[in-house]
Amino acid sequence: MQVRVIDHPLIQHKLSIIRDVNTGTKEFRELLEEIAMLMAYEITRNLPLEEIEIQTPVTTCRAKVLSGKKLAVVPILRAGLGMVNGVTRIIPAARVGHVGVYRDPETLNPVEYYCKFPTDIAERDIIVIDPMLATGGSVVAAIDMIKRSGAKNIKLMCLVAAPEGVRVVNDRHPDVEIYTAAVDERLNDHGYIVPGLGDAGDRIFGTK
Ligand code: PRP
Ligand code: URA
Repeated sequence: MQVRVIDHPLIQHKLSIIRDVNTGTKEFRELLEEIAMLMAYEITRNLPLEEIEIQTPVTTCRAKVLSGKKLAVVPILRAGLGMVNGVTRIIPAARVGHVGVYRDPETLNPVEYYCKFPTDIAERDIIVIDPMLATGGSVVAAIDMIKRSGAKNIKLMCLVAAPEGVRVVNDRHPDVEIYTAAVDERLNDHGYIVPGLGDAGDRIFGTK
């Protein structure tokens, strides 16, 4: 399995609270946003820098700035929306595309229903975000759509992954690096991650 687990103590602590069935919608949403921000910090660790000359109050000096790499964040609706603000808080120049995919509850197959990308998506590096990587069907469908639009450099950021989903994404999109806060044990008979955190969309939006 090719996957990078971000095991920073702050992320692991917040994830444990999120998993707890007694954590309510407000806290769930706030913590998910905070984790997304911390994970974005890790994912962007290798962004290229360049030097410019600046004037400090004391003197002029050479200083490092991002070298203009263009990024786009693509949340998978609905639950991916819960991670957008955390990412854009530290990457404010990132554009945001949207992919609508839901899992058919019977077949667990992905159903695509929405797609809107920045017009220059082909020139951007992409971070796909979705808290849950279960069978991998939704992520594979989303990445298929993104690649069809011309983007090439794609990373996936999720919160909890099942080994089954990681393998599927590795197999179908071996060029996509997966970042997650946890790889859990397995999927249950209904395609839910065990131990997981339940239905991420329902917990973010309070729909159940
Ligand atoms: C959830 C989750 C992922 C998908 C993961 O979305 O946010 O997108 O399931 O499952 P998979 O890896 O087996 O495809 P869901 O289909 O519940 O839609 P929602 O976010 O609109 O609630
Ligand atoms: N989608 C979720 O929201 N949770 C899971 O455990 C699996 C898919």
